[in-house]
Amino acid sequence: MPSYVITGASRGIGLEFVRQLSASADNQVFGIVRNPATATKLTALGRQNVHVLQADIVDVEALKSAAAEVGRMTGGALDVLINNAALVGGDNQSLTLSTYPEGQESVLADDLRQNFEVNVIGVINTINAFLPLLRKGNLKQVITLSTGLADTKVILDASFPVHAPYSITKAALNMVVAKYAAEFKKEGLIFLAISPGVVNTAEKPPSPEQIEGYKWMVARFQEAAPTWDGQALSPEVSVKMMLDVVANLSEKNSGAFVSQYGNQKWL
Ligand SMILES: NC(=O)c1ccc[n+]([C@@H]2O[C@H](COP(=O)([O-])OP(=O)(O)OC[C@H]3O[C@@H](n4cnc5c(N)ncnc54)[C@H](OP(=O)(O)O)[C@@H]3O)[C@@H](O)[C@H]2O)c1
Repeated sequence: MPSYVITGASRGIGLEFVRQLSASADNQVFGIVRNPATATKLTALGRQNVHVLQADIVDVEALKSAAAEVGRMTGGALDVLINNAALVGGDNQSLTLSTYPEGQESVLADDLRQNFEVNVIGVINTINAFLPLLRKGNLKQVITLSTGLADTKVILDASFPVHAPYSITKAALNMVVAKYAAEFKKEGLIFLAISPGVVNTAEKPPSPEQIEGYKWMVARFQEAAPTWDGQALSPEVSVKMMLDVVANLSEKNSGAFVSQYGNQKWL
């Protein structure tokens, strides 16, 4: 019975991973959320093979408790960990590294720290908490959600100086994935950083400002990828594409950073 742990399972792409993976009754799927009481879309799946666990990924003890609970239910093993949870967006994402207002240097530093805390340290915490179980699993896969915005070529080709703390920390995350891949190559653990593409995970209709922001972003991305139609993927399509990539994963790909196409075509 393959077992999967997915962080950030309350909504968006994480929720869709749980939905698709739990469609097979053979899979045992653990969704980790910060607040089970508000993770109503996850609990509404109502599937017997879905288990909801609580942990903020910056909280090492909560992650260890979640891992202990998974171990109790799987007999001490885990096949696949999907690091999906991340700090995405935020109030200042339209600022660049040089346009935080005069006197607000501490706000920039705080944004960088908070993104690093969740997107880098939080993922390392998660991997370390589940490593003992993964070592005893059959598939031994750790899939980590990255973004095309972590690729320097995209940033340059698209002239995209905004979303800086997010891009910077996701680029660092790609290195985290490579470091683990290098460390655990001999043990047969496989680590992959994967971008889901541009995916519409909005919980409510966009404001006029958000629509304008999205149009601006599409125009920038089309500078980097002129054939892209500007349409965001649904979580359903993106997750299906990523699971196809994961299904074809082998040890020789460990440590790679790929898109939902399994290569460096980000859009
Ligand atoms: N959507 C896209 O276009 C896109 C593009 C490139 C990459 N990605 C990557 O894909 C992943 C999912 O994106 P998304 O659009 O689905 O994001 P989202 O809708 O913003 O959802 C983020 C998820 O992460 C959880 N989370 C945030 N901070 C956490 C923490 N400290 N501890 C535990 N959970 C935490 C959130 O939980 P709460 O519900 O408690 O807030 C939520 O479940 C992210 O890694 C993102 O960087 C997305």
